[in-house]
Amino acid sequence: MSATRATSQPKQRSTADRTGYTVPSSQEIIITIDGPAGTGKSTVARKLAGRLGLDFLDTGAMYRAAAAIMIDRGIDREEVGELVSTVIGADLHFDWSADPPTILAWDHPIDHRIRADDVTELVSYVATIPELRSHMVRKQRVIFAQHPRLVTEGRDQGSVAFPDAPVKFYLDADPAVRARRRIEQLGLENEVSLDEMCRRIAHRDEVDSTRSDGPLICPEDAIVLDTSGLSIEGVIDAMERAVRERVAALIDLE
Ligand code: DC
Repeated sequence: MSATRATSQPKQRSTADRTGYTVPSSQEIIITIDGPAGTGKSTVARKLAGRLGLDFLDTGAMYRAAAAIMIDRGIDREEVGELVSTVIGADLHFDWSADPPTILAWDHPIDHRIRADDVTELVSYVATIPELRSHMVRKQRVIFAQHPRLVTEGRDQGSVAFPDAPVKFYLDADPAVRARRRIEQLGLENEVSLDEMCRRIAHRDEVDSTRSDGPLICPEDAIVLDTSGLSIEGVIDAMERAVRERVAALIDLE
């Protein structure tokens, strides 16, 4: 699948002169953002998409939905075939009228379920199942075909799902910074110590980056940003500059 598609509409460059930048509406583009948990990826991806006038896809929500389905339908770890066929039958999709888009299974919203502790516990395992990953990647490509101006965020978006993406980012940060952010994000200040969260994050990193299929890796052509000492706005500014340069080059190539 081609990750950028030229359109027959006229070239537009004037937006690059404004403060703030919107990708020209004639430009179809996919921007991938990968990296481990706690790097600010989701927040940054959503805000970057909003700033650039693009849609935003949270692929972690798809794996979380699969984990929620597994728990709620009482499917055991040995029943991989049953899990995969149930998830396929659930026809996971997003309600794009919501901001951020919400995820549905069997046409029912399951957003309320996917950030629960039991789901977070199980999701790394679910994300190791190759048949499930290939199903999710297929769905992500269909979503891009339907939303051809997209910022997509996950672990394998630049490496597996959209290797031809013209702009790829890889976000990273110090483990302690990531653990602190995770505690704040989940409101667990009084429940989980920094050490415990560091341990949980290290475990998830290990599972995510050592699985055989679609492991978390930094794509060779990705722009790497260490977000440890940066504010969210600082990260987005740096990304916006990179996208602006890349889009200008793409328009020149047309
Ligand atoms: O980003 P997150 O915490 O919502 O991701 C949930 C899990 O799904 C995490 O273990 C990584 C996995 N994941 C994945 O394997 N591939 C993706 N494209 C997105 C998430």
